[in-house]
Amino acid sequence: MTPSPSTLRRQLILWLTAPLVSLWLISSAIDYNVAFKAANHAYDQTLLSKLFGLSKQVVVENGHLTVKLPPEALAILRSADQDKIYFQVWNRSEQFIFGYIDLPMPIPMTINTITQNIPSYRDETYRGESIRIISVGTQIKGRDVLIQLARTTKRREETIAEMLMNMVIPQIILVLMAIFSVWYAVGRSLTPLMQIRDEILHRSHLDLSPVSQIQVPLEIQPLIQGFNELIARLGKLLNAQQRFVADAAHQLRTPLAGLKAQAELALRLENPAEIRHSLQQIHTAAKQANHLIQQLLVLARAEPEAQQDSLMRAFDLAELAKKITMTWVPRALHKKIDLGFEGVDASATVHGNATLIGELLNNLIDNALRYTPENGVVTVRIVSLLDDLILEVEDNGTGIPFEMHDLVFDRFFRILGSNQEGCGLGLAIVREIAHGHDTDVQLLLGRNNQGTLMRVPFKRIKSEFNPLNTQTLKQ
Ligand SMILES: Nc1ncnc2c1ncn2[C@@H]1O[C@H](COP(=O)(O)OP(=O)(O)O)[C@@H](O)[C@H]1O
Ligand SMILES: [Mg+2]
Repeated sequence: MTPSPSTLRRQLILWLTAPLVSLWLISSAIDYNVAFKAANHAYDQTLLSKLFGLSKQVVVENGHLTVKLPPEALAILRSADQDKIYFQVWNRSEQFIFGYIDLPMPIPMTINTITQNIPSYRDETYRGESIRIISVGTQIKGRDVLIQLARTTKRREETIAEMLMNMVIPQIILVLMAIFSVWYAVGRSLTPLMQIRDEILHRSHLDLSPVSQIQVPLEIQPLIQGFNELIARLGKLLNAQQRFVADAAHQLRTPLAGLKAQAELALRLENPAEIRHSLQQIHTAAKQANHLIQQLLVLARAEPEAQQDSLMRAFDLAELAKKITMTWVPRALHKKIDLGFEGVDASATVHGNATLIGELLNNLIDNALRYTPENGVVTVRIVSLLDDLILEVEDNGTGIPFEMHDLVFDRFFRILGSNQEGCGLGLAIVREIAHGHDTDVQLLLGRNNQGTLMRVPFKRIKSEFNPLNTQTLKQ
């Protein structure tokens, strides 16, 4: 089972919600604290003023402390929303004078603990309800009294809840709005991507024009850029292949048409000598067509895009060059050309596709032997220069006019008048193979400013012994 890909939206919202909710929790705790303190303070103030009112009603009558509470005063004392008010008055000798006798006493139960005229507040439970209770010890007409007044805390709790709501609800709305904004913004930002997806989906496979980046957010532009670069490379490759196929078809048509015409002519001939002559020409044309096809196939394999990294290994360049030079000796002898090989003493390991580099060398030697007149000299050489191993093929033949040095590497380009068979692909193959190995082919003048010197430098690999060498050469 593959995990479902996480959406940008989900990730962003998660990253935003976690700190926001934590922050909200902390702020709610602080809010509660603030609300509690404020509500409590207001509560205590009312308790104090009521207690003050009550204390005024404590009088001395016949030498005894007593509380005179007319109904109006009692009404004022007891007006406290839906809360209940309880009170009591004690004298110094802990004698109960007035009020609710069972109100919780301050601990320890003595008037002396209540500092003179400084009220103390505490939360208690009374008759199953929580109450806020104020106690004060004071002197009335020179006598010590303890007055306690209590109020159920229903209103206080309501005030706290109201205050908390007023603070927390806007915060919740803010958090929700932030989450919604992110959700919406991500959707909005991704719209151009969706448009690009639709555009690509509805495209013809032949349309390799770049995707427009104008509407795309800056962060996504590298992606589109990369995609466009890939498309551009694909376009180039496709163009090259189309050109190649067109060239190949064009080039093959001529020898095949010649073959057909000669075969038709031979069929009409009666004279065996003439038939034989015609067959000879058919044979030559077939050989040329065969060579052309061979070269086209090599070229197709030699294109840097087609060269596979998997076929690249370390091998001994000098050994390969020597082996290939040997195969050309009969051709050289036939043309009375002195074909020589100069190797290197040290190891000559390079990294590459040995088959293709062999093909490169074959084409260079073929040209050298082809365009060098009889009794000429052709030398294949490996030169060691610092980190480079340079493959050289030098001849003292006709040479290539300077103004054609670039042109000869073009596909199907041939210098007219050489009277040699060929299809103009040899040097194009050499160049493609060199490019596929991150190097290039250099065309120079041969010794004594005569003939041609072709050089292809390779990077030497520093290894005394490489088991891959033998493996490659055995293939
Ligand atoms: N060593 C050389 N000496 C002289 N001319 C050469 C040499 N190599 C190549 N050329 C010229 O370059 C042209 C292109 O070479 P190439 O691409 O191998 O095609 P081809 O050999 O099939 O004509 C040849 O037609 C030839 O005129
Ligand atoms: Mg050639």
